[in-house]
Parts: sequence; C-alpha cells; structure tokens
Amino acid sequence: MAALETPVACCAPLGAPALDEAEALATAELFKALGDPARVRIVNLLATSDGAVCACDLYEPLGLSQPTVSHHLKKLTDELREEVRRRYAESARAVSESSHDCGCGSGACCTPEQSEAEVKFGELLYDAEQRGELPDEAVLASLGCGNPTAVAELREGETVLDLGSGGGIDVILSAKRVGPSGTAYGLDMTDEMLALAMQNARDADVANVHFLKGVIEQISRE
Ligand SMILES: C[S@@+](CC[C@H](N)C(=O)[O-])C[C@H]1O[C@@H](n2cnc3c(N)ncnc32)[C@H](O)[C@@H]1O
Repeated sequence: MAALETPVACCAPLGAPALDEAEALATAELFKALGDPARVRIVNLLATSDGAVCACDLYEPLGLSQPTVSHHLKKLTDELREEVRRRYAESARAVSESSHDCGCGSGACCTPEQSEAEVKFGELLYDAEQRGELPDEAVLASLGCGNPTAVAELREGETVLDLGSGGGIDVILSAKRVGPSGTAYGLDMTDEMLALAMQNARDADVANVHFLKGVIEQISRE
C-alpha cells in the first residue's frame, strides 16, 4: 500500500473567530427568549404574515388565552428591545471611542467612506449648514432615517420632544430653532446614547435641552 505523502485535513478551517463574551451572552439571551414552543409559534406566525398582526388573531391558532399570549408577547418585545438597546449602545461607544482616538478635530477624517445605505441613514441627511452647527460627535452619531428639523416648522418659544433622540442631533438643532425661551427634550432608553447626547449638548453650548431616560412605548400620553 502506498504511503500518503500529504496529511489529509479532516475538517475545513473555522470560518470566523469565536464570538466574544458579550456577543455570546446577548445571543444566548435571544435564544432564551425564543426557547419556548409558544414563542417559536408566535414568531413563525408573524414571520409568515404579510402585514401587521393583531394579538387577538393569535389566540385561536395558538389555542392560548389572551393573558398567556400577552405574557409571551411581552417576553419577545422585551428581548427585542434589549437587542436594539445593545446595538445602539455599541454605536454610541464606537462614536465616543473614535472621537477620542482620532485627534483630528473632525469626524469626517475618522469615518470610512460611506455606503449608499449610510447616506440614506445618518449625517448626510443634514445639510452642511446644519452640520456646521453641531459637534462632530453629534454628526457622527446620527443614525436617523430622516431629518425632522428640515420639515418641522419650529418657532421661538416652542417645546419640542424627540422620541429616540440618540446622540442628540435633532434635539440640539431644535433647541437652536426654538431659542432660549423654548425647550427641546430628548427621550432615549440607551444610557450610552444619553451620555453622548448630553456631552454633545454641552459641546454645542445649548442650555435649553433636557435628555430623559425612558422607553417610548411606556410614556404616558397625558
Ligand atoms: C435612529 S437612532 C437616533 C435618531 C436620532 N434622531 C438621529 O438622527 O441620530 C434611534 C434612537 O432611539 C432609541 N430607541 C429605539 N427604540 C426605543 C424605544 N422603544 N424607547 C426609547 N428609545 C428608543 C435608541 O436607543 C437610539 O438611540
């Protein structure tokens, strides 16, 4: 029998490095939220439906009572919100870290070339004049999909509330529009974004702003 000259690899090399501790924990939490047959069936019904689904349409196909469906929906929405919060926290940290690392005085030189998607979501939704009114970190942290300050007719003395205020770009621009006799509030659920927004407001030298921690779905409408 002829001897094998080259060793035969039994497995292909690993395709990617192992997830880090934080990513693995976050993914485990997501799996935990899905680790229930009722929740898997709810997700399946939602994923295979064309449009929005009313909770009351789920009771019969699942054979579950309204309180039980509500319990499962809450578990799913809480975990989804937590995943969204984790991602925004990561973005806020990336902006803070890149602005500390860069030392060039402008966000632009730290930012890699922008893709088409990034042009539709983010800083390029704001014109050069508006960007000039803002600290670099506020511009860099812009992750919005529109520029509300371009369409809102804000007047001196008005009160503005931005739900999901992120790095504070719209709150700071609004505060400037409504002037010292008006106030702009930003509400956000992510501590890292709130810290970034407050720092940006200080850097932009606007005093008529307030950033509040909260979840949009839980605020009172009164
Ligand atoms: C698209 S970003 C910021 C938008 C901001 N206007 C801008 O242009 O940069 C959305 C922000 O909303 C916050 N957010 C998302 N869902 C939320 C919720 N349910 N309650 C409170 N904040 C939320 C995130 O933490 C994030 O900072």
